[in-house]
Amino acid sequence: MKHKELKDRVVLISGATGGIGKALSTLLAERGCNLFLCGRKEEQLTEICKTLSNKDVRCFSKTCDVANEKEVEKTVEKAYKIYGKVDIAILTAGILMKNPLEKFSSKIIKESMMINFFGNIYFFEHLVPHMIKANSGTIAVVSTLADQRGYAGWSAYQSSKAALSIASECLRLEAKKHNIEVITIKPGNVSTPMIQNQKGMGIVSAEKAATIILQGIEQGREIISFPLHQVIPVRISDKLPAKFYDKIRSLF
Ligand SMILES: NC(=O)c1ccc[n+]([C@@H]2O[C@H](COP(=O)([O-])OP(=O)(O)OC[C@H]3O[C@@H](n4cnc5c(N)ncnc54)[C@H](OP(=O)(O)O)[C@@H]3O)[C@@H](O)[C@H]2O)c1
Repeated sequence: MKHKELKDRVVLISGATGGIGKALSTLLAERGCNLFLCGRKEEQLTEICKTLSNKDVRCFSKTCDVANEKEVEKTVEKAYKIYGKVDIAILTAGILMKNPLEKFSSKIIKESMMINFFGNIYFFEHLVPHMIKANSGTIAVVSTLADQRGYAGWSAYQSSKAALSIASECLRLEAKKHNIEVITIKPGNVSTPMIQNQKGMGIVSAEKAATIILQGIEQGREIISFPLHQVIPVRISDKLPAKFYDKIRSLF
């Protein structure tokens, strides 16, 4: 059952040059949404916008480093200047940097937090006042399915995503009274440049991921976890006591 129609909505997408962000932009343009795309690669953004614009769909873009609060503020301002509103923001910008113990570095943790956590928090800070005024809006952030237990070497990525999952849940509870939806997207493995476009059993394509995400938004879901065949084993292993969990993780 559809809770929300996407056609004619204004959608802001961060990380629009990436695997999931680009697939979402393409699908949203096909659904008749007007787009505001951001990322750091100017040429790619311009090219994507040019491809997606047509007589029914407007597309604008702005370069933005999401780790820089001022740039996020300017990005939101520009989107409101052009369209007068943002109905939906889908925040996909993120990085995956491993941080093995032998070369452990707080810099990697800080950089991951700045992009994966604060890169979303800054958008909340600058979008929410507009959305409270409008008494409507949707902000969907992309966390990860693996946001509850650790993987060896992934302390930077997973701690930034765990923080994002919790913060977005807190904000979701508060935002309801302003008719603002906050959605936490929790993908399993998706074939994109982030995981070197890995293919293989169980890995979904960026296009499939985008379809599932948009379905979840249309249905008004609070948390969009996918694909189901990855969700089930991950959520079972989340419940394991540390001794069993460590044994299982040591096999990977
Ligand atoms: N692929 C997976 O298996 C998987 C699984 C779980 C969660 N996720 C999450 O899904 C989201 C999308 O990832 P993806 O797989 O599509 O990866 P991707 O292809 O590497 O795309 C990442 C996007 O983030 C943007 N980005 C990175 N740092 C940025 C910064 N400082 N400022 C602005 N934009 C920045 C990149 O754009 P520019 O380089 O142009 O800035 C790019 O558009 C990420 O948050 C990721 O953590 C992915």
